[in-house]
Amino acid sequence: MGNDVAIKAYREGKLPFPDGTIIAALHYRYVASEENNKVFGQAQSFVPGSPTNIQFMVKDSTKYAATGGWGFAHFQDGKPGEAAFMKSCFPCHQKAKGSDLVFTRYAP
Ligand code: HEC
Repeated sequence: MGNDVAIKAYREGKLPFPDGTIIAALHYRYVASEENNKVFGQAQSFVPGSPTNIQFMVKDSTKYAATGGWGFAHFQDGKPGEAAFMKSCFPCHQKAKGSDLVFTRYAP
């Protein structure tokens, strides 16, 4: 999910994302759907289960200059991620350098 700044930049194909961009990733367990599988007659349907965590990327090229202009946040059961764990975000997201550290593409 993204705020208006994020979605506007996505739609216009604008890179880098402007300051003020906020992108959220909601994560869920991946569970089989008994209800749908009954219809299909075989196990082939999966749906989101219980939520696991929520992560954010917030663009502020001054405040977060050391991490490519992005601030990273992680919450599980309402609690923020440990400092050591939070150090893993930027190095991995650097693999998406060609799209301003954002992996997810806009699908119109
Ligand atoms: C090992 C690599 C890796 C690490 C570490 C990692 N991410 Fe990601 N992240 C990804 C990939 C790949 C995606 C896109 C696919 C997906 O969402 O599963 C993604 C997606 C996201 C998104 C949605 C925007 C986008 O880039 O697609 C946010 C927000 C996000 N991650 C935040 C974080 C935060 C916060 C941390 C640190 C706690 C973190 N990530 C650590 C690989 C990583």
